[in-house]
Amino acid sequence: MGGINPYIAKAEVELPKKAYKIRLQGPDKTVEIEVDPAKIPYCEPGLPGSILNVALGSGVEIEHACGGVCACSTCHVIVKQGLDSCNEPTDDEYDQLDEAPGAGLQSRLACQCVPNGTTDVVVEIPEWNKNLVKEGH
Ligand code: FES
Repeated sequence: MGGINPYIAKAEVELPKKAYKIRLQGPDKTVEIEVDPAKIPYCEPGLPGSILNVALGSGVEIEHACGGVCACSTCHVIVKQGLDSCNEPTDDEYDQLDEAPGAGLQSRLACQCVPNGTTDVVVEIPEWNKNLVKEGH
């Protein structure tokens, strides 16, 4: 599964116009990705240019049980820096985040969170989410 969920409101997204960095901090390691706007969408799952979309397309695995269509909360991440440069969450995203363990004010769904590239973004992958930030093949 992948692409856009037709049953939810469309997120208002501003795509980046210049390169920026996403730093993903997992429980065991940190990965830094240089985002090239020309490569968006990086792969199929998640909104184009979302944290999930860029990470998966760069070979960094983040859990995404529903395929990146805002229908689960397994891609829950905490945006520690650069949250202001990301699109506003939709009501559907807030609904899913309500289900996410340990969700707080900086929580987002990685598949719905699209930074606009005006600043670098630091993202924490929650420790209680096992199996995250492992290199792809
Ligand atoms: S992967 Fe299911 S909500 Fe993001």
